[in-house]
Amino acid sequence: MKLIVAADRNWAIGNNNDLLCHLPGDLKYFKEKTTGKTVVMGRKTLESLPGGKPLPNRTNIVMTRDASFAKEGCIIVNSIEELMEKYMQEDLMVLGGAEIYAKLLPYCDTCYITEIDEEFEADKFIPNLAKSCDFEKVWESEPVTEKGITYRFTEYKRVKNG
Ligand SMILES: NC(=O)c1ccc[n+]([C@@H]2O[C@H](COP(=O)([O-])OP(=O)(O)OC[C@H]3O[C@@H](n4cnc5c(N)ncnc54)[C@H](OP(=O)(O)O)[C@@H]3O)[C@@H](O)[C@H]2O)c1
Repeated sequence: MKLIVAADRNWAIGNNNDLLCHLPGDLKYFKEKTTGKTVVMGRKTLESLPGGKPLPNRTNIVMTRDASFAKEGCIIVNSIEELMEKYMQEDLMVLGGAEIYAKLLPYCDTCYITEIDEEFEADKFIPNLAKSCDFEKVWESEPVTEKGITYRFTEYKRVKNG
């Protein structure tokens, strides 16, 4: 399983159920990494998408504990166990938000982190992978600056023990 996220210097990822900033280059990268894949997100992240609609050209899995929840174009999953039993695969892409990242990080071997060199006001965070013993940064891009905001694409891999 893999995870993709844009995080600021404090590993903040969202505020008021929205992204911290909208960076066209990051959106393009996100599209490239996820198109054609099966993606999994929390119900709140689905609601934060334009029109609350699933992402086109991807198989969208949405996690909710509400057994009656339905949304056109989405596969609904009610627990981590159900996700693992029915949809676990190497290429499954975790799209957030904070609650879903926290729950699925233990199952991820690769994390695509867009590291934004800013500090935003935020109410959602992910664990700091740079300080984690479980992950190491294996790649980072040259810096990109858009709208006065500098960021890099990076890749973290789970450290293999033994
Ligand atoms: N920076 C980024 O790359 C990025 C990416 C994605 C999202 N975000 C941001 O993250 C924020 C949203 O994150 P969030 O933590 O509030 O919400 P979230 O993780 O998107 O969704 C949380 C919801 O997922 C469902 N859920 C959680 N655990 C579950 C489980 N074990 N089984 C079944 N369903 C489960 C619950 O839905 P029910 O309440 O319906 O039961 C829960 O309320 C927004 O600000 C968004 O913009 C940022």
